[in-house]
Amino acid sequence: MKVNGRHYRSLWWDDHAHALMIIDQRWLPHDFRVAELRTADNCAVAIREMWVRGAPLIGATAAYAMALRMKADPSNGALDAAWDQLHATRPTAINLRWALDRCRSLLEPLGPPARAEAALALAHELADEDVEINRRIGEHGLALIREITPRKRTGEPVRLLTHCNAGWVATVDWGTATSPMYQAHDAGIALHVWVDETRPRNQGALTAWELGSHGISHSYVVDNAGGHLMQHGLVDMVIVGTDRTTRRGDVCNKIGTYLKALAARDNGVPFYVALPSPTIDWRVDDGFAEIPIEERAPQETTHVLGRTEAGNIEHVLVAPEGTPGGNPAFDVTPSHLVTGLITERGVCEASAAGLAALFPEHSAGDGRSGDRGPDSPAPESAG
Ligand code: MRU
Repeated sequence: MKVNGRHYRSLWWDDHAHALMIIDQRWLPHDFRVAELRTADNCAVAIREMWVRGAPLIGATAAYAMALRMKADPSNGALDAAWDQLHATRPTAINLRWALDRCRSLLEPLGPPARAEAALALAHELADEDVEINRRIGEHGLALIREITPRKRTGEPVRLLTHCNAGWVATVDWGTATSPMYQAHDAGIALHVWVDETRPRNQGALTAWELGSHGISHSYVVDNAGGHLMQHGLVDMVIVGTDRTTRRGDVCNKIGTYLKALAARDNGVPFYVALPSPTIDWRVDDGFAEIPIEERAPQETTHVLGRTEAGNIEHVLVAPEGTPGGNPAFDVTPSHLVTGLITERGVCEASAAGLAALFPEHSAGDGRSGDRGPDSPAPESAG
């Protein structure tokens, strides 16, 4: 998407420097900085410290990290060590493992001399695939938004609510939850988006920055506002992203998503999850019991990052000095609270049957055949 009129992806390859270029998200929305990652170690730090973040972008970054490692050392030992190192960076988003497994299954059978080139080609392929998946999610989500418009009075916008940043900077481009918003806006549908700030790291500020850059009307609201807005009929639809969705449709996403789903259910507001297929963990049924929830540093809750009036980007303490913080980064929304899953192949019920209808190649297996791209045959939408 565009930043100051220029099109960017959230990462890109610099052939001349043989390096991965990323938008360094630690500084957004206050400052737009680009960072150069020259080694797999650099990439591992960037994922762990959230220079890059968002499930699909973590996966794409890991694929480029593997390419950088294979260029430096294409041996079997390096391949295994890179897989382990990168997989350990963040535990919840399944896209990381999905991308690493795709790299390993391509590279292992090749002899070491062929690995560097093949790994880089695969990283490019995964990045392009992500863009295409998200574009398609946007088309299917746009159809859902269109269905709301006849109920609107002239000039009244469709009001959406989103949590965290499932935007273009969380993916390679388009975003997942935001792709329908961009496409609806571009189709001339009046929108207003309630953007949850998403403490502790305020990823909502990234969403607000994105929507503002694209000219989409939005308000940045505190995390606790959603229930109130829904009670007053000010939310037509919730759309969020996901870090891992189980084969029965439980959705693990940024902490606080579950509370939005509960409020949506109590108020009859449709609650949709934008779900690229690499985010489905076909090996897992019960999200609550089986998905590891990342526990991040307590300083993320006791401190807030912002820009001072003098223009400096600084952390400030918001809790009493020495207060212990607790920081579970994700929660699980059970499938019965999810109205539907917006995938690249269409919209389906959040259930094993719904997902199996769209992805029949996974329905009978053990979930390990997760390497199909967006051009794999797509059955008709189930929803
Ligand atoms: O901790 P983060 O910022 O990586 O968490 C991101 C989210 O929870 C997103 O909603 C999710 O990854 C979907 S991104 C398309």
